[in-house]
Amino acid sequence: MTIPLFKSYPALEKHVPWISLGQYPTPVQKLENLGRAVGYPELWIKRDDLSSNIYGGNKIRKLEFAIADALNKKKKYMITVGGIGTNHGLATTIHCNRAGIKTALVLIPQPITEKVQENLLLDQHFGADINVGRSTMEAYLRAVWVMLTHPNFYLLWAGGTSPLSTLGYVNAALELKQQIDAGLLPEPKYVFGATGSMGTTAGLIVGCRLAGLKSRIVGVKVSMDAYSNVKGTISLCNRTIQMMRKHDPSVPDMRFTASDFDLEPGFFGGEYGRVTPEGRAAVDLIKKTEGIGLETTYTGKTLAAMLDFIKKGGSPDGAPLLFWNTYNSVDYSETIKKCGGFKTLPKSAQWVFKENLISYLK
Ligand SMILES: Cc1ncc(COP(=O)(O)O)c(C=O)c1O
Repeated sequence: MTIPLFKSYPALEKHVPWISLGQYPTPVQKLENLGRAVGYPELWIKRDDLSSNIYGGNKIRKLEFAIADALNKKKKYMITVGGIGTNHGLATTIHCNRAGIKTALVLIPQPITEKVQENLLLDQHFGADINVGRSTMEAYLRAVWVMLTHPNFYLLWAGGTSPLSTLGYVNAALELKQQIDAGLLPEPKYVFGATGSMGTTAGLIVGCRLAGLKSRIVGVKVSMDAYSNVKGTISLCNRTIQMMRKHDPSVPDMRFTASDFDLEPGFFGGEYGRVTPEGRAAVDLIKKTEGIGLETTYTGKTLAAMLDFIKKGGSPDGAPLLFWNTYNSVDYSETIKKCGGFKTLPKSAQWVFKENLISYLK
């Protein structure tokens, strides 16, 4: 099986590590009901929530490169960092298990929601070594400890972002181009996606340029300035294309600047993971109209930004808008019910369950 990235740049395949973990292409579909509800017919979705029937979402596209790199380097442990409810940490734990690599998570405080508690129980269920800091500083100290006690580790930074893993979304944009060419959707004028650690956004910017798509990427900022910013996104785009060119000189020489995308800061809500009323309303609306489940940290805020854009008139020509769904939609509630609760979590993590927010465990 080859992926659009390697089809376009065959020399990359010889030099870049990659393993198959997901199911592609992910479907595209018109959001007929949501479009009717908001009075904008040309609304489309890219279903990366269906990228795997084990655990989908955006992270698997990055992990296909990062895990392959770790395997090539014969690493035993994957160490990664995130908020307590990190989807990235859970995706890493689940997909590393499949590759025979054990995951150690270093977790930083964030507002506690039902999804945060669910993910923590699942991290435990899938065998992650869980280390929760009471503060960011404590989490970083724990990270040093985790590195000392897990020899032969591969360090995957927050969100799993690096130039290598960004190739996952360069490939995703090339996949989108194939779907446009096949007539499955029109070329979107704007593509809305969440910007957390910036890898997804940077990959889409680079990939759309390489694919010759005119679609403008709108990254919806969902994290603090240190993690989500224009400069970092553009630097990642430039480092990614340079890495590609190093391995395959047929990759065009291109430079990216701040004018190449939009970073929408207005839906962040001031804190990573904070539930905002607009984000909550967007999650509820797409559930009611399309039956698609989002969450409030990333995808709810992103959809809220797109709905606000429409409310303000949308594209004057009514041109197609694409919402890139980066959340997983495999339902783990039955597994969570059988998890046995939070009592088996490490002591440092039990305060997260001071109040049980998981409705079906009450
Ligand atoms: C559901 C979801 N969407 C989007 C993102 C953000 O992606 P990135 O970190 O590549 O910006 C994340 C990151 O954890 C996520 O979990």
